[in-house]
Amino acid sequence: MQTPPWPPVRTRSLVVAAGALVAVPVVGVLLALTAFSSVPNGHARLTAPQAEAVPANALVNTGFEDGTQGWKAQGGGQVRPSTTAAHGGRHSMLVTGKDGKRPGASLDLAGKLRPGTVYGVSVWLRLPAHDPGAKLRLGMSWGWASAVQDTVLTSADVTADGWVRLEAKYTPVTAVDVLTADISPVSGDGEFHVDDFTVVPLPDRPQVTVPSLKEAFGASFEIGAAVGQQQLAGMEADLLKRQFGSVTPTNALKWTATEPQPQAYRFAAADAIVDFATANGMKVRGHTLVWHNQTPDWVFLDPAGKPMTPTAENKALLLQRMESHIAAVVGQYRGRIQTWDVVNEVIADDGTMRASRWYQLAGLDFIKRAFQAARIADPAAKLCVNDFNLSQPTRRDAMYQLVSTLKAEGVPIDCIGDQTHVNIAAPTAAQVSAALEKFARLGIDQQVTELDVSVYTDNTSVYTTVQPALLARQAAQYQALFGVYLKHRDKISSVTFWGLADNDSWLHTYPIPRTNAPLLFDAGLAPKPAFWAVVGDRPAN
Ligand code: XIL
Repeated sequence: MQTPPWPPVRTRSLVVAAGALVAVPVVGVLLALTAFSSVPNGHARLTAPQAEAVPANALVNTGFEDGTQGWKAQGGGQVRPSTTAAHGGRHSMLVTGKDGKRPGASLDLAGKLRPGTVYGVSVWLRLPAHDPGAKLRLGMSWGWASAVQDTVLTSADVTADGWVRLEAKYTPVTAVDVLTADISPVSGDGEFHVDDFTVVPLPDRPQVTVPSLKEAFGASFEIGAAVGQQQLAGMEADLLKRQFGSVTPTNALKWTATEPQPQAYRFAAADAIVDFATANGMKVRGHTLVWHNQTPDWVFLDPAGKPMTPTAENKALLLQRMESHIAAVVGQYRGRIQTWDVVNEVIADDGTMRASRWYQLAGLDFIKRAFQAARIADPAAKLCVNDFNLSQPTRRDAMYQLVSTLKAEGVPIDCIGDQTHVNIAAPTAAQVSAALEKFARLGIDQQVTELDVSVYTDNTSVYTTVQPALLARQAAQYQALFGVYLKHRDKISSVTFWGLADNDSWLHTYPIPRTNAPLLFDAGLAPKPAFWAVVGDRPAN
């Protein structure tokens, strides 16, 4: 048995998988493949190098001196020990096909590799005498019983003239149920010798331990993610618990979800999220009590079943419905939801109040009464007005005016939430800073409530794949934003992302259906360039 030296001869970056960058409704998979090397043909040693000791810390070391050591044939082939050729010792393993089918061989590694550790995977391959040549690949199959994916680590041309080494670095970022190493032919007639397969943790290399956002920023502000029930299980739940200290139910607390029919409250979906958060020591932002969207039509119908017109009776009925809704929903989670978006999106782009049915029927009173009702339902909860594009000067100044009016009248408002649905080009750090500084003059808390950074700068473009250059611009934008947030950490109490990872974002359907990649984790749940830009500590590889 031989163990080839590290580091590898040559390395090149390997993008995890094209699919990881696009919006596929992927199973949560958390594997980061960092870099890889294949010994280039021609530079490879075609004969056995001098024997070296296998490192004592080799996790896997199959030299086939004692049978096939757990390797199994794939694709209808066979595996058996052979003395016809050996890279080290007297034996190799011969993989043979059947009925003209190209065989492969695989070794179960489930439970053997530790997430976050860089492993060197190496194997020596050679073809039987007189075989003209083949291309062989080394890969990993990984995932869960229902969804196993293949990742090619490296491949090389192999001949009968000598041994060729395939080697790769491989880093599982989190645990999976299924993990096998696979060797299989890409071309050729499908018979080959395998020897000295090793998996060695690389002690001389930095370990890729993915930092935790909540640990990195927790001293400055809470870090949260918007989630649905689909994020509460499996890999997504693991990522959520490790990275985030707070959750916001994406839709489960909206009026359509909680009171679809008058007084017929439904809390199952929100309960699942709040229970998960409580069980895991996470905070919850309640989103949202009063909004013009995702509100059932019945709310705005008069007793005759007609759309309300602005009369005193209708205003009274509307506000009574609103207060009873707020009492029920906030009351349900009293003590368990620390912050509420009491009203959502009340400012119009031109700086006037949005002409929603709420405003048309009840004027500013809907806002004042909503805050008062929420304060009564849970006196300890922090109460926010939430809106978008608040770095935009017209909207910013309108929000400033509104909050200053409300505060002057004694309305119990504690915070301004800026959704922060931004893109790779706008807003600038200076604009974001200016809004934070202006709102601070109100003596009010501020929260970033729905952060995401679209890779599009318009409402019409559609990319089939999101190119690395866009992800680099996105990383720069996220870095700029977090630079501002850290600078103003005395003004901000939480930063919540509108989603967990790129496999599930509202921006895949809004404003039009298109692939987007707005968050810090990719569709396979692996950290993106933006993640490393934000935590500022990308491991060298
Ligand atoms: C979005 C959700 O993410 C979607 O699932 C839903 O279909 C529509 O609403 N501003 C808000 C959020 O305040 O409530 C919105 O959430 C995104 C924009």
